[in-house]
Amino acid sequence: MNNVTAQILTCLAAADDYLSGERLCSTLGITRSAVWKHIRQLRSEGYQIDAVTGRGYLLSGLTGRPVQAEVLPFLTCQRFGTTIDYHTMATSTNMLAKALALEGAPEGCVVVADAQSGGKGRMGSTWISPPGVNLYFSLILRPAVPSIRVPQLTLLLAVAIHRAVTDLSPGLAAMIKWPNDILVNGKKLCGVLCEMQSEPEMTHFVVAGIGINVNQCDIPPELKESATSLFLERGELFSRPQLLALVLNHIEPLYDEWLHQDDLAFILPSLEQYSLLQAQEVSIDQRNRTLNGTVTGIAKGGELKLQGADGETILVSSGEAHLRKKMVKCE
Ligand code: BTN
Repeated sequence: MNNVTAQILTCLAAADDYLSGERLCSTLGITRSAVWKHIRQLRSEGYQIDAVTGRGYLLSGLTGRPVQAEVLPFLTCQRFGTTIDYHTMATSTNMLAKALALEGAPEGCVVVADAQSGGKGRMGSTWISPPGVNLYFSLILRPAVPSIRVPQLTLLLAVAIHRAVTDLSPGLAAMIKWPNDILVNGKKLCGVLCEMQSEPEMTHFVVAGIGINVNQCDIPPELKESATSLFLERGELFSRPQLLALVLNHIEPLYDEWLHQDDLAFILPSLEQYSLLQAQEVSIDQRNRTLNGTVTGIAKGGELKLQGADGETILVSSGEAHLRKKMVKCE
């Protein structure tokens, strides 16, 4: 969506009553015919806009797309999401956000796409990103911390997303699978992919990419056993703009607190309460080895505490964890 079109939509969405064409012209510094052109464009994109002579324009129907104007009414945080760069189609929102960050985009800026043609998952995997149903977005962060702390952000984001999805759908049995997944009934609902540009003592920026399966009803056959969506779990459709705002509303205060702390100690109770791996026998695939053991907790630095057969506990900082016993579905 063109920037001026998006600004008109934001003005209309914020207005309680009809907004005059004159007011839009003066706010945006454009002509009456330009206003009319953008209104036509918005209508062609599915927005219902009533026009009454002498009164102006009234937005009477939204589209449910996660565009700035539809997200803003749900935002309660101060900085995150005040700029939302929406794309109908992106290769990957992480790639676009990285380019914006390199150009100097401020912390809190969000890139969101209705669909991705090259959505990136962890370990070089693909994130399947069909249009019109899910959330795919990337948040630019500029934490003034040494880069060694950045992996903790993935867990912090997982806690924020867990809180957001359970706010939206109370009673959802969502669990956090260390380090970056949210699962429901053993199937993946959400993944997080953080990418950063840094030097050892300084983090230039982090792009926090988040994919949440929201209203998807057809899961591709090869993922049916391992992936789910809010719709499939709850049997109802959810508002993507509201969920995006809820996630940002939860991330911002946790992130601000984390910047003042040395570690994740302040969210360990949440992490452990909802940890799918807690007290489970797991194997953890790392680049060139596999670790086996029982998970005894999460350390304040974000590492997984793994007790081996010899009774010794080691701290695992990365890898892909697999449960060695299948969990029973909870209804
Ligand atoms: C994972 O493998 O679990 C991480 C998936 C992360 C997917 C999201 S969708 C939005 C953002 N853009 C991407 O290309 N990837 C992330």
